[in-house]
Amino acid sequence: MEPAASEECRYTYEQYRETADWLLDHTKHRPSLAIICGSGLGGLADHVKDPVVFNYTDIPNFPQSTVVGHAGKLVFGTLAGVSCVVMQGRFHMYEGYPRGTVTFPVRIFHLLGARTLIVTNAAGGLNRGYQVGDIMVIRDHINMPGLAGINPLSGPNDERFGPRFPAMSDAYDEQLRSMALTVGKELGYGPSLHEGVYCTLGGPNFETIAECRFLQQLGADAVGMSTVPEVLVARHCGLRVFGFSLITNKSVLEYGTREKANHAEVLEAGCQAAVKLERLVSALLERMNGKGLV
Ligand code: HPA
Repeated sequence: MEPAASEECRYTYEQYRETADWLLDHTKHRPSLAIICGSGLGGLADHVKDPVVFNYTDIPNFPQSTVVGHAGKLVFGTLAGVSCVVMQGRFHMYEGYPRGTVTFPVRIFHLLGARTLIVTNAAGGLNRGYQVGDIMVIRDHINMPGLAGINPLSGPNDERFGPRFPAMSDAYDEQLRSMALTVGKELGYGPSLHEGVYCTLGGPNFETIAECRFLQQLGADAVGMSTVPEVLVARHCGLRVFGFSLITNKSVLEYGTREKANHAEVLEAGCQAAVKLERLVSALLERMNGKGLV
């Protein structure tokens, strides 16, 4: 079957270049690190020093955000002494964007000179050891849309970004994962900090109970609707990747309960625990900077 026209829509190398060059012309910052903030987690951008802020609407070729809780701003500056670009408001497949649009910013970060990408998201906790407000360092992912052939890297491959068949067995940087766990323990987060597998689904509906049980049996610890497309494109172009999930709700695994996930609950839990995550990211950046890792 032919893909729908919207799925085919992709950017030329020149369009990526045009956007990156426009940004480089409009700020003196030269970020070595990019951060994508998930639902309710955009507060990190408020800690950026010497900020230069662009609304997505003002950046040539940049997609526009449609979800409540996603601001739609690109913030350049420094965090814990590291030159950063922070994306406040990401794009999701469920908004109806063509695949290449969701991941457009990642290639821009690469062309801006960033070498590391940190992704954050809100996620449902499948692992019964996880509580609302806990943080999960992403060890690995399961790409459910990808298993069905929906992948931002499908279609013609542009070698200027990366190879046709990129490996994903080392998607989440081991050194940064281990450093995050150490830093988290030092901050006293011990029991509420985990390392686990993130599973992405297409959304926008939350999962059925049968789906949650299925995902749990597959080995997923947390479930969400984002992040993986950006990680695939980032690894394709050689960025080092690291990510956190904030557990905003416990996935419903039992019949006969009245619990059900909703977006307001996700945003509320995000707000409450965001400060904890922001502290962890700042401490991690300081450590990375100290060790010359960024
Ligand atoms: N499922 C999918 N996405 C989510 C969830 C969830 O339970 N919580 C936050 N994002």
